[in-house]
Amino acid sequence: MPGKEPDRSKEPDRSKERIVSLAAPPPVLSARGQRKEYGTGEGLVRAVDGVDLDVGAGETVAITGPSGCGKSTLLHLLGGLDRPSGGEVRLNGRRIDDLGEKALARVRRTEVAYVFQSFHLLEELTAVENVELPALLAGRSPRSARRRALDLLDRLGLAGRARHLPSALSGGQRQRVAVARALSNEPLAVLADEPTGNLDSAATADVLRLFAELRDAGQTLVIVTHDPRVAAAADRAFSMRDGVLAGESGPAGPACGRLAGAEG
Ligand SMILES: Nc1ncnc2c1ncn2[C@@H]1O[C@H](COP(=O)(O)OP(=O)(O)OP(=O)(O)O)[C@@H](O)[C@H]1O
Ligand SMILES: [Mg+2]
Repeated sequence: MPGKEPDRSKEPDRSKERIVSLAAPPPVLSARGQRKEYGTGEGLVRAVDGVDLDVGAGETVAITGPSGCGKSTLLHLLGGLDRPSGGEVRLNGRRIDDLGEKALARVRRTEVAYVFQSFHLLEELTAVENVELPALLAGRSPRSARRRALDLLDRLGLAGRARHLPSALSGGQRQRVAVARALSNEPLAVLADEPTGNLDSAATADVLRLFAELRDAGQTLVIVTHDPRVAAAADRAFSMRDGVLAGESGPAGPACGRLAGAEG
């Protein structure tokens, strides 16, 4: 009808959306002035020497750099596996570097997850038992832990290997079991230290595909790697030198070549 006021009551309230989008959530992981020193005097090693890093929700960040530049040390600090000599680490806005042992152990058990170069699977447990272990330790019922473990193995293409011992699995399959285990408690962030370091190129491609899927599913990831392909697949890649994050590059283009060429 001409002249009739349109009914605005059913339209979404855009002013609220603006407020929501302006109040951005804190980064999942945030490090400020991270330092880690070992030894004293002549023997002092500045393994991590003043690192600032924010990792947003769903972001994949890669860290490359020569051996001994501090990559693993930094990853340990980010995941509460080790305490910094100085600086702050926040997980979803909450400081974790100053937590007591018990609270920090809880963070390590339930909020962040590690994937290591050498898999770190328990050899006497089957694949599904390895995957369900973190959920059991976090207090889930055996039935729900088992169901989730089988589901994860299925999603990672290992349904047929659930009852195998690690010794009966290939390197790529072991690493996929290790990733499934890392996802067991739906961690805020997965921290991976050279996850393809022990794998041949076919298995590396497998694990790379898996990380791409995790990224698409919105999993926050920090990956330390010597492999330029892993760095190239990340949203952001940093190169580390002497305990410092030296440079950042985006996912594609010549910067990745520079990273690859700069490998030590
Ligand atoms: N527990 C420790 N005690 C003394 N020095 C250490 C300790 N852990 C690491 N470092 C030293 O800190 C520096 C950084 O080590 P880190 O393991 O973080 O290097 P990285 O970049 O991970 O190397 P790689 O690529 O070989 O794994 C090295 O000089 C190392 O020798
Ligand atoms: Mg290392």
